[in-house]
Amino acid sequence: MNSKLSAVKGMNDLLPEQAEVWEQVESKVSEVFRQYGYRPIRTPIVESTPVFVRAIGEVTDIVEKEMYSFTDALNGEALTLRPENTAAVVRAAIEHNLLYDGPRRLWYFGPMFRHERPQKGRYRQFHQFGVEALGFDQPESDAEQIFMVTRLFKALGLTGSFAPKLQLNSLGMPEDRARHREALVQYFQSHHSQLDEDSQRRLGSNPLRILDSKNPEMAELIRLAPQLPEFLGEHAKHFQQRLLKSLEDQGIAFELNPRLVRGLDYYNLTVFEWVTDRLGAQATVCGGGRYDSLVERMGGKPAAATGFAIGAERLILLVQEAQGLASPQAPDAYLIHFGQGACEPAFKLAEQLRDRGLKVVFDPGQTSAKSQMKKADSSGADLALLIGEDESLAGEVTVKPLRGQGQQATMPVSQLLATMDRREQDHA
Ligand code: HAM
Repeated sequence: MNSKLSAVKGMNDLLPEQAEVWEQVESKVSEVFRQYGYRPIRTPIVESTPVFVRAIGEVTDIVEKEMYSFTDALNGEALTLRPENTAAVVRAAIEHNLLYDGPRRLWYFGPMFRHERPQKGRYRQFHQFGVEALGFDQPESDAEQIFMVTRLFKALGLTGSFAPKLQLNSLGMPEDRARHREALVQYFQSHHSQLDEDSQRRLGSNPLRILDSKNPEMAELIRLAPQLPEFLGEHAKHFQQRLLKSLEDQGIAFELNPRLVRGLDYYNLTVFEWVTDRLGAQATVCGGGRYDSLVERMGGKPAAATGFAIGAERLILLVQEAQGLASPQAPDAYLIHFGQGACEPAFKLAEQLRDRGLKVVFDPGQTSAKSQMKKADSSGADLALLIGEDESLAGEVTVKPLRGQGQQATMPVSQLLATMDRREQDHA
């Protein structure tokens, strides 16, 4: 016998019940994003490796340890499965000159790939709902994105203890960060012997990334390290005050977290994350911030920008914790046929009902009425429509309600269709 094949570790199948919940969440998300004027963009899953290295930064966990990078054996190109999508959207915006007639609000949904250790809420293929506002330099754009996520969480029923908590920080302007960097280097150099190997390496190239270390032995040293907010200049402070005022005006709760640095190099000024402790270990559901120099760094004309991405798996896990499993999408009617000559009129009726917008399930073949009835019941359909030999000869159909109080009735097919037409007109 052939051995069984299975999915790659950390990459999940979404079976129909699960995929239906995803579809519901996807449609809610796109509805909210569109309310704010965001338009969809779809970029390839594979990009040339430098797109990510240049954007995310060479000395980051993602680029150093987590990217699925490979050489295309056919032409020697260095390629990477996208670990995130900000880099790719910026690449596409520059390539297609999207900013030539003004700023753009863009959103996307799709799979991302990071070689991380899988656990609940952390996978190697995961999905993000993301937005990128390119060409916007005012704090109101950051605020509006925070409004969007807040609105979305509410629309998905994430309230009370299920509502993720917003944390904010400012990473300042380049000159603020340079001062912070200097202080960090001095501090870590004076504690050199306590640095692990990774951090010793990062000290020379990207000391801010030492702060991302997940090594518990480094935690205390990192806790006492100089923090960015102490180095913010006037512009960064003023920018943050305007953002906080907008949030307060909308009654949005937040916590300032001076330790929030994000794991990607492209950020400046505003950074934010929504965290929850409802998924076991504390998890970030959404992360983002401002990246005013990325467009230029990727080869475009300078353009300020701000964005975020929501982890779809984490969001949906949370929605399911909050609401329980949503019921599967049941058909409106299940068509049951039995006996000679019944299949053809039943098959035709199914199509006529679908013409009228109904979801109808029809089983081909000659299974018994009893077994079809069982399937109709477990499908969750409201109605069973039966066509047996008698009905087929008389041009009739028996309507049997499967839920609620209604009575079973046999009627001409034309009468059933007329009822459906009236119902459609009433709803129009
Ligand atoms: P990120 O913080 O790396 O940001 O990822 C955003 C979200 O994706 C995380 O908060 C988390 O919910 C989810 N996520 C990340 N890794 C995994 C994983 N291995 N398994 C499951 N979920 C995961 C970015 O990717 C930026 N591009 C966000 C952004 C957009 N910033 C500006 N614009």
